Amino acid sequence: MHWIGAFDPDLRSFDIILRTANGTSYNAYAVRGDSGVAVIDTVKASFGERFFHRLETIADYDEITTVVLNHLEPDHSGALPELLRRAPRAQLYVSHQARPMLKGLFDPQEFAGRITGVGTGDTVDIGGRRLEFFNPPYLHWPDTQCTWLEDEGLLFSGDFLGCHYCDTRLFNDAVGDFRFSFDYYYAHIMRPFRAHVRSALDLIEPLLLRAILPAHGPVLRDDPRDYVRRYRALSGSGLHRNQVKTLAIFYISAYGATRRMAETVAAGAETAAGDNDAAGAVRVSLYDIEGSEPHTFVDLVEEADALIIGSPTINGDAVKPVWDLLSSLTMVDVKGKLGAAFGSYGWSGEAVPMIEDRLRRLKLRVPVQGIKAQLSPTPDEFAACHALGREIALHLLGRAEARVVDMASLA
Ligand code: FEO
Repeated sequence: MHWIGAFDPDLRSFDIILRTANGTSYNAYAVRGDSGVAVIDTVKASFGERFFHRLETIADYDEITTVVLNHLEPDHSGALPELLRRAPRAQLYVSHQARPMLKGLFDPQEFAGRITGVGTGDTVDIGGRRLEFFNPPYLHWPDTQCTWLEDEGLLFSGDFLGCHYCDTRLFNDAVGDFRFSFDYYYAHIMRPFRAHVRSALDLIEPLLLRAILPAHGPVLRDDPRDYVRRYRALSGSGLHRNQVKTLAIFYISAYGATRRMAETVAAGAETAAGDNDAAGAVRVSLYDIEGSEPHTFVDLVEEADALIIGSPTINGDAVKPVWDLLSSLTMVDVKGKLGAAFGSYGWSGEAVPMIEDRLRRLKLRVPVQGIKAQLSPTPDEFAACHALGREIALHLLGRAEARVVDMASLA
């Protein structure tokens, strides 16, 4: 097995959103069998010549019978079309999900008959060595797969279990301390898909691992299970849940009106919350957004089953700390959670529908219309806040009454 990737030590941000203090590597590998050579992943296009140079030092192009692409994002597929041109005997193996996406990389007609879609349990023999595919999707794209070389105990894991940390000493027992980068990478790449991470770990944990060979960062040959355990811990729930559902109410308030609405929403939710020690209860939490940074609330959002967000309207918009929180929600999996909004306003009140729209676009369910109150809420408006909290709590408990929604009201 040979590493044939490329180092990119000067990179300082990746995919725009990730900081890469130590650069990164685009790891690619070649495995020699008795009947052919398999190449696993390629590199970013601008590093293609380094990749081909390394490949040519260990194999002739005519020997390459198998090319595996674990993930088709351009940092791994950049040199793929040229590799397939140079290696005319090679068959390309990608996940079933990746196959229709390949047309975004090249004209599939150019390689007609040379592309095979594979799923979990499919194998390819390269003579005395067998590559087996695992197909855990959404790590972090729909197409992702891992490739397992059982004979050697080597797992080619793609982005999964990787990190952006460039060190030419390559192996985890030889490079510098990269733990911060491993956790940072998880938090920014894998965390929104933590349910899929747990499914992938279910597949990987039974394997007799000798080493994990990710597509970025050090090769994990010293205690590879330690990194699997770390992912298991990071992707687990931090709450001791029993059957308790969690409702988090976030608010910010200029003159106290939105704060009093938040307290009333919480009180309404409490009336449906039940006994928090019992199965089928709701734990209600109230947070003033002004009191902390958005990232400290992300953990709370990740664990919550429902979010209710309160904001005043200032200059026709929700206020910046609320948008900071809402923009942070892409870091975690919020799909399917319940959402709602409320807030006080001076003369226009756009914040509430704006928040509701954002929650819907993040694929939360917003089953109850938000509450707006002009200046100081009236008793009726406080009663509506109370009902909003109670209704969301009842939804969490599966005890809300079914109702007909006018679709026009959602526009
Ligand atoms: Fe390393 Fe998702 O690309």
